[in-house]
Amino acid sequence: MYPLFGLGFALHICSVTTGRSIELVATEERTNRSIDTFTNCSYVIKKFESLENWSRLCNISQTGHIDFDIVCIVEGNSSIKLSEFRNFTNHVSSHIQFDLSVICKDGIIHFPWPFRADKLHRIFIKDCRIKDYRTDFKNSLINSIPDTIKHLQMDNVTIILRIGELYDSLSKANSPITRAAECGPENAFSIILRGTTANIEDMHNYFMFDLETAIEQYNHYFNIQKRTCLYNNLEVYEISGMKDLEKNVVNKIIHTDVAENLKTLNFSGNGIFDTIYKLQGWRLRFPVMEYIDFSNNNIKVIPMIRDYGMTVKKTKSVGLIDIRRNNITSLTKGMIDSFSTHKFVKVDISENPFLCDCGIIEVMEYLSAKTMPTAYDYLRTLKCGNPSKVRGRQMITLLSTELNCNQETVINFPVVVMGIITITLFVITFLTIYFRNMIKVILFTRLNINLPCEFRNATHEEKEYDAFIAYSEKDVDWVIHTALPKLESEDAGRACRLCLHHRDFIVGNTIADNIFNSVENSFHTILLISNDFLKSEWCMMEFRTALRKSLQDEGRHLIIVLKGNITVDNIDPDLKNCLNSQTYLKIGDVLFWDKLKYGISFRHKKSQNN
Ligand SMILES: *[C@@H]1O[C@H](CO)[C@@H](O)[C@H](O)[C@H]1NC(C)=O
Ligand SMILES: *[C@@H]1O[C@H](CO)[C@@H](O)[C@H](O)[C@H]1NC(C)=O
Ligand SMILES: *[C@@H]1O[C@H](CO)[C@@H](O)[C@H](O)[C@H]1NC(C)=O
Ligand SMILES: *[C@@H]1O[C@H](CO)[C@@H](O)[C@H](O)[C@H]1NC(C)=O
Ligand SMILES: *[C@@H]1O[C@H](CO)[C@@H](O)[C@H](O)[C@H]1NC(C)=O
Ligand SMILES: *[C@@H]1O[C@H](CO)[C@@H](O)[C@H](O)[C@H]1NC(C)=O
Ligand SMILES: *[C@@H]1O[C@H](CO)[C@@H](O)[C@H](O)[C@H]1NC(C)=O
Ligand SMILES: *[C@@H]1O[C@H](CO)[C@@H](O)[C@H](O)[C@H]1NC(C)=O
Ligand SMILES: *[C@@H]1O[C@H](CO)[C@@H](O)[C@H](O)[C@H]1NC(C)=O
Repeated sequence: MYPLFGLGFALHICSVTTGRSIELVATEERTNRSIDTFTNCSYVIKKFESLENWSRLCNISQTGHIDFDIVCIVEGNSSIKLSEFRNFTNHVSSHIQFDLSVICKDGIIHFPWPFRADKLHRIFIKDCRIKDYRTDFKNSLINSIPDTIKHLQMDNVTIILRIGELYDSLSKANSPITRAAECGPENAFSIILRGTTANIEDMHNYFMFDLETAIEQYNHYFNIQKRTCLYNNLEVYEISGMKDLEKNVVNKIIHTDVAENLKTLNFSGNGIFDTIYKLQGWRLRFPVMEYIDFSNNNIKVIPMIRDYGMTVKKTKSVGLIDIRRNNITSLTKGMIDSFSTHKFVKVDISENPFLCDCGIIEVMEYLSAKTMPTAYDYLRTLKCGNPSKVRGRQMITLLSTELNCNQETVINFPVVVMGIITITLFVITFLTIYFRNMIKVILFTRLNINLPCEFRNATHEEKEYDAFIAYSEKDVDWVIHTALPKLESEDAGRACRLCLHHRDFIVGNTIADNIFNSVENSFHTILLISNDFLKSEWCMMEFRTALRKSLQDEGRHLIIVLKGNITVDNIDPDLKNCLNSQTYLKIGDVLFWDKLKYGISFRHKKSQNN
């Protein structure tokens, strides 16, 4: 209320403004003169001046009837010790309250956690390097100092530790840390630890193994100890900007500690990625919570956050769960559904690096159609984080063309299946067309299937033979022992009626007549062409007769079969023509017999028209 700059001025203010409080204090004082040495403000100031280092680095001023402000600037090589301050506060009236601010400019302070000093009401430490931080962790004498701190705040401090000190301060089975060290100022209204780092001075000359073992033991003991801190006043609890935040600390306040008046819980900027799961039952633990700040962390997935409505006693507030600026990349309908209808808690997921892919458009359409409390209108203004070409754009303004959302890019199961079927059909069709002749042959000979567009067996004309075989006498063995069994037997599928000159020629007729009759009375003439065939005159006569017939019947009559290697040099020009223009069969071909039977069973058009 009356900030004082300098002691002379302070004395003047004291005498003018603090009269009433002195009277008040004095009456109470009479009850215990022996301990209470406080008489008036100038005494406090005088006492403070007697402190060796504090008086040099700090200014004290009276700001209210019983309130004193102490502001210290610790520069360069100078340092102050909390123990010196404790000696001072022990010797002033119990009704006084001190607000202490320590701002460092390279200075070091020796302040053991939790900074207890009688009558210390508020402590604020900024930019300091703190030594002796853990020296009181197991010091039970701390319990003799009243816990008077109502507001504690540390900004940007570095805790300087020695390994030995750290090791000794760890909770072990036979020597637990004190409640004061574990809980800090339990009567406080606010505890704010912002940007704290820890430095170990003498890392090099210690066996890390011992320390790690000790830390393990510590965690173990910490977990089984399950001490509950009772923060009956606490309204603001913040641990932020701490790179190596111990999970224990977060878990304790969320899980075991009692803080029924907590309004703000701030774990912002700690690199947390999983602890938020523990908040699922948050309202049951924190009935008056207004703000849970998990912003600037590394959370990737938001847990199911429940809305307990007004069912919890004392609940008056709408809680805000702030998950802004984390690492949530996907936005789904399910995610939106998980919280967007909550009335008594607002979950804020904006400013996350959302990946805007094709799915996001669908999600936005869903969002547009959804009815939500107005608190969730912000969802419609969410912006993209990736890919870079749409970064910063509002999702709702995205067009599917901008994201290259063609049907092909979306993996759509039915489309893929249809694609596979189409390709398969295409391949089958292609193969069918490519091998259609072979397929026709096989269908016919093996399954007796005729394709509808062929003029096969549709004839009414009857002929004596299916085929007349013209062959050289030298090939008779092959004809009788190989061809006949294959073609004439029923086992082979279809029995053909064949005309062989040595068997079927009519005795008495001229050979020429026999050849003519045989060709005329057969649907086909099979020329078994071998080198011997080419040399035989009768054979060539048979060929000519058959060729003439073939010309009459529009080319379907002749079936040419090649036997052995044919030397085509001195071959009859008409036969040469035939070989060039007509497909012929080769003995030894995989489907030779099938093709031959197929050819034999073919009936030409003219015959059908008869
Ligand atoms: C007075 O001082 C004595 C001894 O220091 C202490 O035991 C007692 O509680 C004090 N009484 C009051 C009223 O402060
Ligand atoms: C304040 O205390 C000092 C020393 O303790 C004493 O000399 C002085 O008279 C006191 N003043 C008042 C106004 O009580
Ligand atoms: C204390 O007051 C003096 C005089 O007003 C001023 O120069 C000095 O900076 C102050 N020191 C602190 C720590 O506030
Ligand atoms: C700190 O101490 C060193 C020597 O110990 C001295 O040279 C330097 O001037 C001191 N700095 C300050 C700000 O007092
Ligand atoms: C005061 O500061 C000096 C130098 O920093 C230090 O040597 C001394 O121990 C300090 N005294 C107390 C009581 O803290
Ligand atoms: C505090 O007071 C005790 C005795 O009252 C004394 O032994 C100790 O040295 C003092 N500490 C400081 C830092 O002045
Ligand atoms: C934190 O404190 C250090 C000195 O310990 C100082 O150099 C630095 O600027 C401070 N950072 C902020 C953000 O205040
Ligand atoms: C939480 O802490 C951060 C960092 O100190 C601060 O910026 C933010 O405002 C705090 N949030 C609330 C709700 O107080
Ligand atoms: C965010 O998460 C991605 C993986 O999902 C990771 O590659 C990236 O490093 C994270 N960002 C930060 C700041 O940790």
